[in-house]
Amino acid sequence: MQKLLFIILTALSVSSCTTDSIDRTLEFSAKQTLSLYRSVKDLDGRLPRSIDPSGQLVTSNDAYWCSGFTAGTLWYLYEYTACDSLKAAAEALTERIERQQYNTGSHDVGFMIYCSSGNAYRLTSNPAYRDVILNAARSLSTRFNPALGVIRSWDHLQWHFPVIIDNLMNLELLCEATRLSGDTSFLHIAVSHADTTMKYHFRPDGSSYHVVDYGVLQDGFPLRQTHQGCADASAWARGQAWALYGYTMMFRETKKPEYLAQAIKIANFILNHPRLPADGIPYWDFDAPDIPNALRDASAGAIICSALIELSAFADKNLAGKYLKAAEKQIATLSSPEYLAETNTNGNFILKHGVGNLPNRSEIDVPLTYADYYFVEALIRYKKQNKS
Ligand code: GLY
Repeated sequence: MQKLLFIILTALSVSSCTTDSIDRTLEFSAKQTLSLYRSVKDLDGRLPRSIDPSGQLVTSNDAYWCSGFTAGTLWYLYEYTACDSLKAAAEALTERIERQQYNTGSHDVGFMIYCSSGNAYRLTSNPAYRDVILNAARSLSTRFNPALGVIRSWDHLQWHFPVIIDNLMNLELLCEATRLSGDTSFLHIAVSHADTTMKYHFRPDGSSYHVVDYGVLQDGFPLRQTHQGCADASAWARGQAWALYGYTMMFRETKKPEYLAQAIKIANFILNHPRLPADGIPYWDFDAPDIPNALRDASAGAIICSALIELSAFADKNLAGKYLKAAEKQIATLSSPEYLAETNTNGNFILKHGVGNLPNRSEIDVPLTYADYYFVEALIRYKKQNKS
């Protein structure tokens, strides 16, 4: 089957006369992610997560926040190749996650279901996926507190009503649910959450805190702390990436100018930061004490890259050029041997060097499913936008 896929992919690239590096990277990603799928195919209900220090695959159950990313990557790669094996793999992993549509215990139902069933519906129009998306949006909506104006993130850990910056990403599911059903209550929740987050999560320089606890007031503001960054006052790189992606996406969905202005402010913070390395891939925290020896986070780089490509379509010409140039640099870096795995290494994940949760000593300098997802999304967005 691998040989067949290789022949199909080669034929596709020849027939479309595309031999540039983005196509080569996407073709490699398709083969690699199909191999990743094969490694969990017969593991009942398991989903790829990362690798352990000995290089062995680590899997998760469907309730883990990253459960939907590999399915989503497979859907994107199916979109690119039109290859049936990728579609079958995407369908199989999407099915493993579907019961999360009823999960009211996690804000991450947006990540899980939108990346899997959301892409599935976008590419197949199968109404069964539409029902999954709507049920998941109903589940996520139960976590909204109308008095506070935000969706609760975690039910565990020490906080009273924590909202993490990452939660902006789950709003895309709600926007899609309004589009599919005509029920505007989903969109209203998304807008309320984005507006309230804009008020309390950001510093004057455009960087964001990781955790805001709306259950505790300190000097007239909800308590602002970190969980995955190096300090409460630091700029945790993936948090900045989620924020940039979140407001770019919310501008696409609502056309509210405040969201575009916020996305531009965040992009400027990232791109003008004196500690952003020249190759465009951030250290895991912009304030990590051991910079320049601190680890980079490929996942933050990939999320920022995908967001900048989308933002370049909304910003004025000067900024758009700057954002695209930065994204091109990130694509080149992530496609280089430093970050891109070799075939059948790296547990069959695409990218190396992600940082999951460094303060918790978890997933440090490893492949991460969300790095792969947003990298492939960025490559496909770039191709669509630039018709290369
Ligand atoms: N949403 C969790 C993370 O970005 O690690």
